[in-house]
Amino acid sequence: MKKILVTGGLGYIGSHTVVELQSAGYDVVVIDNLDNSTEEVKERIVSISGRSIDLVIGDVNDQTIMNRIFKEYDFYGVVHFAAYKAVGESVDNPIKYYENNVSGLITLLGAMERHGVQNLIFSSSCTVYGIAEDLPVTEDTPIKSAESPYGTTKIIGEEIIQDYAKHKNIKTILLRYFNPVGAHPSAQIGELPNGVPSNLVPYITQTAAGIREQLVIHGNDYNTSDGTCIRDYIHVVDLAKAHVKAMTFADKMTSSVDIFNVGTGDGSTVLEVVQAFEERCNMRLNYRIGPRRDGDVEQIFADTQKINDVLQWQTEYDLHDMMYHAWMWQKSISRK
Ligand code: UD1
Repeated sequence: MKKILVTGGLGYIGSHTVVELQSAGYDVVVIDNLDNSTEEVKERIVSISGRSIDLVIGDVNDQTIMNRIFKEYDFYGVVHFAAYKAVGESVDNPIKYYENNVSGLITLLGAMERHGVQNLIFSSSCTVYGIAEDLPVTEDTPIKSAESPYGTTKIIGEEIIQDYAKHKNIKTILLRYFNPVGAHPSAQIGELPNGVPSNLVPYITQTAAGIREQLVIHGNDYNTSDGTCIRDYIHVVDLAKAHVKAMTFADKMTSSVDIFNVGTGDGSTVLEVVQAFEERCNMRLNYRIGPRRDGDVEQIFADTQKINDVLQWQTEYDLHDMMYHAWMWQKSISRK
């Protein structure tokens, strides 16, 4: 059975990807420093997939641990999630972001090189496109300088991999995620935001659960159908499955690096998301319109033709499913 190392495998996207890798027949080893997750997630993954995981609690920045793991296991490939992702926090504490997101990647690549592991899937983000001139964005849309240190770490990460791949024998797939939301339909795993969420969907579900009083919509004077920003929301399980497709594709790659957008191809406004939540969950949400949020992009959504054609990947869930699963997950954690 092919063994995959998943860094940050107890995190939001990581945990869903571990489930899908296991369902596809891969053996999974997780390294996670529990910075933005808990050990209990492991048991939940096991209860969904019925398969065990080897868990190493540690940091990808720790060379000693990384060398030990790479010596102990014969990995077929690595899926690298371990990174910080809060845009606002990255503005306040850029060094923390560069240290974790950039140094972590370098340490990982060093270990992969020393131990001859070739296949890597890297979590990138649509944030690399900045304010795109033409929509939808394709993988050839030019990269813009980022609005936040978080975004810069994703651009630097992509560049490090591109440079590295020119001279080393690796097969890397950069997946540029749009806006991952929702949770596993079992409601056993999902997003666990630290403190007050800055992302839209956890804020919606926490407001519905009575943890937050009111959702503030950041601006309704944008040049969109209802004035609120447009994003391409993608169900986290569909996103997780894209990683499995990418891992399968790695062997067939003719170039050393390939890039795929992972979105649905459809843009939704903030008000459309709120409406989908209200309709699907049969609730009224307390919200008001507030001022614009600094650094927000007016609209972005993906051209998904490349991933549809080359990886033979399609989404299965729509916006209503995303809202329903996010709400089921919120209810399951609110009960505790
Ligand atoms: C951004 C990044 C994304 C990154 C993510 C990590 C871009 C285009 N996207 O997502 O790459 O992975 O942060 O956190 O840079 N909103 C409200 N009220 C709220 C919260 C959000 O109205 O309380 C609105 C925002 O203004 C935005 C939309 O909801 O229009 C989505 O916001 P959010 O969930 O924070 O994601 P992005 O900012 O798109």
